[in-house]
Amino acid sequence: MNNQPTTWFKAAPISAFPENGGACVKYNDKQIAVFHFKQLDKWYATDNECPHKHQMALSRGMIGDQQGHPKVACPFHKKTFSLETGLNLQGEDYCINVYPVKIEDGFVFIGI
Ligand code: FES
Repeated sequence: MNNQPTTWFKAAPISAFPENGGACVKYNDKQIAVFHFKQLDKWYATDNECPHKHQMALSRGMIGDQQGHPKVACPFHKKTFSLETGLNLQGEDYCINVYPVKIEDGFVFIGI
């Protein structure tokens, strides 16, 4: 992951995203899953594509907490990924890209 975004993509107003859930936005040809983890008062962005069977599904995944670590579980086969690092939390080789998120003037921006 590149921690230095070159572009802040203005995704949508915060009201477009469910609390404690995710929604998908498009940036060029890329699908990005954006999560509003209300319980932690945090926002996360990841690839929407699950690396397991390449389903565009992670925005519909269940978010939660694994020993204090925010995570998303793919709705297909429940592969679970850290929302902070993108690593698979079951120790498998799959991982996803994660992107920085900032909130400004009621809008969600994603660092690309
Ligand atoms: S496609 Fe996501 S876990 Fe299989």
